[in-house]
Amino acid sequence: MVTVLGLYTLGIVIATVLLALLVFLTYEPLRAYIHKWNEMKPIPGVEGAYPIVGNALYFKSNAGDFFNQIIESTNEFRHFPLLKIWVGPLPFVVLFHAETIEMVLNNPRHMDKADSYRFLHPWLGTGLLTSTGDKWRRRRKMLTPTFHFSILSEFLEVMNEQAEILTEKLEKQVGLLPFDCFSYITLCALDIICETAMGKKIFAQDNSDSDYVCSVYKMSDIITRRQRTPWFWPDFIYNLLGEGKEHKRNLKVLHSFTESVIRERAEDNSDSEVPQGTKKRKAFLDMLLQATDDDGNHLSQKDIQEEVDTFMFEGHDTTAASINWALHLLGSHPDVQRKAQHELHEVFGASRRPVGMDDLRRLRYLECIIKECLRLFPSVPLFARHICEDCYISGFKVPKGVNAVIIPFALHRDPRYFPDPEAFCPDRFLPENSAGRHPFAFIPFSAGLRNCIGQRFAMMEEKVMLASILRRFQVEACQKREDLRPLGDLILRPEKGIWIKLQNRA
Ligand code: HEM
Repeated sequence: MVTVLGLYTLGIVIATVLLALLVFLTYEPLRAYIHKWNEMKPIPGVEGAYPIVGNALYFKSNAGDFFNQIIESTNEFRHFPLLKIWVGPLPFVVLFHAETIEMVLNNPRHMDKADSYRFLHPWLGTGLLTSTGDKWRRRRKMLTPTFHFSILSEFLEVMNEQAEILTEKLEKQVGLLPFDCFSYITLCALDIICETAMGKKIFAQDNSDSDYVCSVYKMSDIITRRQRTPWFWPDFIYNLLGEGKEHKRNLKVLHSFTESVIRERAEDNSDSEVPQGTKKRKAFLDMLLQATDDDGNHLSQKDIQEEVDTFMFEGHDTTAASINWALHLLGSHPDVQRKAQHELHEVFGASRRPVGMDDLRRLRYLECIIKECLRLFPSVPLFARHICEDCYISGFKVPKGVNAVIIPFALHRDPRYFPDPEAFCPDRFLPENSAGRHPFAFIPFSAGLRNCIGQRFAMMEEKVMLASILRRFQVEACQKREDLRPLGDLILRPEKGIWIKLQNRA
């Protein structure tokens, strides 16, 4: 009897302690959540937001539908300075006006990335894209010189060589039925970034089913699925699921590849003997191996790996997507294509010589085309910052801890800066037409201190690839704009690829 009573009392004590613990653990977060919910009430919001689940019942789970819903909301709220959504219990303010975006991107206090970037950490660690605070500042200072003009000019050779392989592959499609050019372009961009970032040829254009190539693709998809699916968020659940295991498998392939390339290259660099008559091409990796901080310290193997993985991730899908959209737009606007070819003829005549640094400068109309393509289809359709202290945006209080989502896709369609926004009109970017435009009205590469470090590299690569294609072929688009349905994940891609027909130019 005494034992039963003892057990009973012990049970009550344990239950009370657990309950107290639960109240203790949830009280503060719950209080902060309710406070934030009330503080943010005045901000205009998408319909159907409920406590804890937020707008989850309103938003569709499919990536394309979700992106379209966000864009529709920005159209509906075009006359408000900002818009609020709740993704589960997390509050976001959505920004799509030059004036409000400037307030966030130009404020050094809001330099940190939003919470959702943590799903990139297992792959990219805290490299330049994902790092915060002092680490980011030190890295950015160390890495900025690696994108210097003189170094980029060495990469031009690689870009020309790979573009030549691309046009040889495309030649086989001339005069045939429509085909999807998406993977042709993407594999070429992958070859370029591998050789320039790591100094390693992977021959992706010839061998598209290599483990590394496949894992790069799978990983982007896996990460975006995790970002959109709240029950994939806790590691201990995710790691038990099939999806989590797939994530781990691909991570291993990606990391072992870059790890071994870095090791080989480091050994190569310490071996100063270069065979006579051979000139070793520099890669970003060589500069990372040599870089030192203000105190003269070198980067560790782990630091270098973070940056190499970051360049691999940021440095090819973005340019590839943009070149693909450009081919669609050029293929559906023969007048613009003709003008671009006219400019190419002025610069290159009938010669087949590679593109030089000086040519790039002279291809001004092609640059307007690339910008107009990035306006309509920015490769990074949205990105997000963490609001690190309470602030006011156009008179609305935005509390510390909220995420700000910046949507270039919607921003670039602001009719105040781009009248008839859906029209494809490269002349908008001629100097006389851009003068006086708000500096934050067109930001495909983000803006402010944390803008894209690779933007000059990207513009160079796009010019080389597009120039190589347009010098040789006539491109005809085989889809209508309405059929393309952009999928706005990490990268803006057309749902069903880009279908074109090619003819040889006379
Ligand atoms: C058309 C091509 C490209 C576009 C549209 C693009 C766009 C962007 C955008 C919007 C950001 C800001 C992202 C954010 O705040 O979350 C960014 C950051 C970055 N990009 Fe690019 N990018 C392109 C090409 C490249 C290339 C070729 C490289 C490298 C070779 C690169 C490397 C980076 C890095 C390292 C960052 C992080 C910078 C920092 O936080 O300091 N990007 N890019």
